[in-house]
Amino acid sequence: MRITDLVNEDASLISRRCWSSQAIYELEKQAIFARSWLFLGHESQIRNPGDFVQAYMCETPIILSRGEDGELCANVNSCTHRGLPVCRADHGNTRRFICPYHSWSYSVSGELVAIPQEKELSGRPDKSALGLKRVPRVESWRGMIFGSFDEAIIPLEDYLGDMRFYLDAFIDRFPGGIEFMGAPHRWTINANWKLPVENQLGDVNHGAFLHAAIIPREAQDTIAQLGYTAVTTPGHGAAFRIMPKDAPVDDMAWGMEAMGSILGGNEVQEYLREVQAQAAERVGDLRARMKGLTYGVYPNLSFLWSNTSFKVSHPRGPGKVEYWSWAVVPATAPEHIKKILRTNYSSFFGPAGILEQEDSEVWTQQFQGSNIDFADDRPYFYGLGLGEEGPHPELPGLVSVTANEFYARQFFMRWRDELQAAEGAS
Ligand code: FES
Ligand SMILES: [Fe+2]
Repeated sequence: MRITDLVNEDASLISRRCWSSQAIYELEKQAIFARSWLFLGHESQIRNPGDFVQAYMCETPIILSRGEDGELCANVNSCTHRGLPVCRADHGNTRRFICPYHSWSYSVSGELVAIPQEKELSGRPDKSALGLKRVPRVESWRGMIFGSFDEAIIPLEDYLGDMRFYLDAFIDRFPGGIEFMGAPHRWTINANWKLPVENQLGDVNHGAFLHAAIIPREAQDTIAQLGYTAVTTPGHGAAFRIMPKDAPVDDMAWGMEAMGSILGGNEVQEYLREVQAQAAERVGDLRARMKGLTYGVYPNLSFLWSNTSFKVSHPRGPGKVEYWSWAVVPATAPEHIKKILRTNYSSFFGPAGILEQEDSEVWTQQFQGSNIDFADDRPYFYGLGLGEEGPHPELPGLVSVTANEFYARQFFMRWRDELQAAEGAS
């Protein structure tokens, strides 16, 4: 199986095997997950020395922590003695991670501190060489913490590139940025990791069909009218609306059409109008009029602006995903307003959200479709809008209407090229 047989030149035809093959999955680990910046968590989750949360880099369990001197640390959650996980809690604050098997203990930044058996022996192993395996690169941007196993990877800010323009349209419109509220929802889906990613990267085209019970046709028509998709770097993308200059503030303001505004009534609506009133000053006129839909950061981080949630699609083999999903709120909003704004996420998304369930069901069925026999000569058609994207005078990246599937083609071109490079190198 050659990689070029799976994704054709312009990525308008993509083989079903890309989602179902075990061999491709193994190659993805080396070609993509060992070489990319992978999202670990947000600084608001680990504010104080000793704070930690669990994370994953593909299938590798990670402890993300704030060390005693305040630095960000990411270590593989596996004892250097016999491999057990040394941290069992999802999140917390501690001075030591203690392995349950023989009680070796590690500092919160991963150094090996004590070996209880040592006192009975005359030899003393060099503890400084026996700390937890450190993720060699950890960087954060706007509080978003990423790690990479590739020591030589480009700086995170360069990796994000112009995607920062679109992320900041949301993050930077709030005076204190954003905060991740509470622990993530975590659940498994019988699907390939790229299916949620592609959906959140730019597929706003299914809204009024798959989610017909919730999303009226008129809302979809507005998206078609005012919507854009931008790809800043292949694999990174943003779908959003630009509201007309004379649109009323209630149409323009973030969150006004979501559950928080409905449940919170006048107090929350006033807060949202206030945020909007400062938006042009904070992010400029164009981005103040931007209402985001879905975003993706290569390879597996998604942001759902309309329901304010960050999500990571953690692979668990070609046919399983562990999906992590966090509610996000403005960091400086009053506490009781944050709780109401969180319903923007929890009312429709998360494992019990009606939109999430419809999407999850689709991803499972897509995965089944990618596994059926006797259909290998029918690759999936990714050619809608082929070549219709181009530069835009004010928006960075390649830009087009939301019905153009170029965001997915660009993802798969990068994916194909990275797999090919890794295959050539092995
Ligand atoms: S396996 Fe961790 S102390 Fe032995
Ligand atoms: Fe959906």
